[in-house]
Amino acid sequence: MSKIEIKTREQILHMRRAGLVVADIHRALREATREGVRARELDAVCADVIARAGAHSNFLNYYGYPATVCISINDVVVHGIPGNQILHDGDIVTFDCGAWISAQGKQWHGDAAFSMIVGDPWVSDEEFAANRGAGALGPIVTASTHEGNALLQRRRQLDALTRESLWAALASLATSRRLSCVGAAVENVVADRAEEFGWEAGIIEEFTGHGIGTAMHQAPEVLNYRARGISPKLQPGMVLAVEPMLTTGSIDTITESDEWTVRSIDGSDAAQWEHTVAILDDGISILTATDSGVAGLAPYGIEPVILDA
Ligand code: MF3
Ligand code: CO
Repeated sequence: MSKIEIKTREQILHMRRAGLVVADIHRALREATREGVRARELDAVCADVIARAGAHSNFLNYYGYPATVCISINDVVVHGIPGNQILHDGDIVTFDCGAWISAQGKQWHGDAAFSMIVGDPWVSDEEFAANRGAGALGPIVTASTHEGNALLQRRRQLDALTRESLWAALASLATSRRLSCVGAAVENVVADRAEEFGWEAGIIEEFTGHGIGTAMHQAPEVLNYRARGISPKLQPGMVLAVEPMLTTGSIDTITESDEWTVRSIDGSDAAQWEHTVAILDDGISILTATDSGVAGLAPYGIEPVILDA
């Protein structure tokens, strides 16, 4: 296993610039997502934001990947290629994308993902945190035009659960000594909500989070489940992409003949949420969140470091 790249604060500031580009892409994708839009059009939205920021896509041409964003619909777990797919109300869709900017003669990368239900109102991190504090995900999973549809209700629960597992994992990095806190946090959230929802989500193991910096994918692997063996110590200067993937059923997957599209083997729905997070001497900072993670971390009593001038 290769060495973990430790960044200076100045280098993490470069990564924050890349992270803000990614946050801006996400905003544009959310706004452009509606019934009837084609996935390919949303790839163009992503490419446009990257170009206007003077940044570069780290997904396009990555091992031959043909787009700037992965758009994974319903039973697609990861790496859906945006093409002619038409989005429909009630679809659960994950957008995963990244960007790099150039500084000090190097590339500085950002990487983040979110899921949403087409046709549902967007829930901000503030609203999400407020509802989570109330325990049940009630307000989140009921506010919409599709009342009473069991499949849809489960998709909303899956989305909220995956989002909560990401924030719990990010928060755990602020107080833990080892990286294994991520898998523990995801497993705990999944177990807690299983009781409340009456079904238990599957945690995908084949795909993991990763270190990130002068390249998109670096050591260490960031597992979303508890594993045996020694886990890397957390230390200032580490930057990680944390990205839990959950399904409403099996954790087994099958990759299509396009060699990218990964589906759940049982056709169950999938969701994924991801942020790039920096570990600093004085705390953590969510580089791909516009507010540095203030709202998302608040329920855990964590105040992130704000690197913005
Ligand atoms: N989704 C991966 C990640 O977040 C990267 C996708 S690789 C690509 O780490 F080739 F599909 F772009
Ligand atoms: Co990633």
